[in-house]
Amino acid sequence: MALVIVSRVHPSSDVWAPEMRRLMPEIDVRYWPDVGNPDEVDAVLMWQAPDGLFDRLPKLKAIFATGAGVDAILGDASVPKHLPLARLVDPSMTAEMSEYVTLQVLRFHRQEPTYAAQQRDRVWKVHPQPHPEQRRIGVMGLGELGQDALGKLAPFGFALGGWSRTPKALEGVETFSGSDGFARFLARTDILVNLLPLTAETENIIDARLLGQLPEGAFLVNCARGRHVVDDDLLAALDSGRLAGAALDVFREEPLPADHRFWSHPRVILTPHAAALTNPLTATPQIVENLRRVQAGQPLVNLVDRSRGY
Ligand code: NAP
Ligand code: GLV
Repeated sequence: MALVIVSRVHPSSDVWAPEMRRLMPEIDVRYWPDVGNPDEVDAVLMWQAPDGLFDRLPKLKAIFATGAGVDAILGDASVPKHLPLARLVDPSMTAEMSEYVTLQVLRFHRQEPTYAAQQRDRVWKVHPQPHPEQRRIGVMGLGELGQDALGKLAPFGFALGGWSRTPKALEGVETFSGSDGFARFLARTDILVNLLPLTAETENIIDARLLGQLPEGAFLVNCARGRHVVDDDLLAALDSGRLAGAALDVFREEPLPADHRFWSHPRVILTPHAAALTNPLTATPQIVENLRRVQAGQPLVNLVDRSRGY
């Protein structure tokens, strides 16, 4: 059983292989491009495929993604469609994402951008503070990350809502689904959190139409993908003040070009795609489980459904 790891980190300081060998001593781990005998390689672990990867590994049986979102892999024409693809569900990444969402929701809820601007101008002025039950949070995407974030927000007492493709019943959350429920979901959302996968259906979903359906003075937290957003539409909504603020972690082009208006917009808070990182220590058990499944000819855990795109 041989696995090839495609990593940006030099093998000598990479955490994946030692952790895999600890959990599965019989594993043969190799680092791209030193694949050894390619006929022995059963699986590859990667974020994106380097040029020539699949030509060099003809006997691959599975692809393991090092991330939760697999849009870059599914959008790559060089990736063979017949190979099963497993995405990552990493408990540490899930916890980090919920921290990020909670941070940004509380920041907007407690009017932190207003008070930060006042501090810069030495202004002493108290603003009425809405109670949490008056603040309606809406999470788009009720998967691993969306559900965990809602669970972490629940103790604050916010009015929680969520939207997904298929109907969901979640305790303490007003749920909506499909295109039928979308307008009602947006109309009741003061702070919109995007945790959708990037698919053909969700690309450009955060456009002028969506933003126009949110209540006046709403906020956006985008921690899913930059291509969910039509940048010009978002900037127009922020310029006019219709959208009171946006916390953005992901961008159409990463790194965000130095001349992009998001960098300096007074209503934007941004981070460099750092909301939730994969932790090899907590993610490796899933990889090892999937290697055993490949060996036994069983279906992978967290298998991506290519027809849905996530
Ligand atoms: P997931 O478990 O696959 O959940 C996806 C959710 O989105 C599901 O509830 C799904 O609905 C819903 N959905 C998909 N297509 C939809 C559509 N057309 N309309 C309405 N709802 C739709 O994904 P996850 O693990 O929570 O991850 C979500 C995304 O977060 C990833 O794809 C990735 O892009 C992003 N992410 C970002 C970072 C970062 O650092 N910024 C880190 C990790 C992940 P159903 O429940 O009905 O299937
Ligand atoms: C990060 O953005 C991921 O999808 O894991």
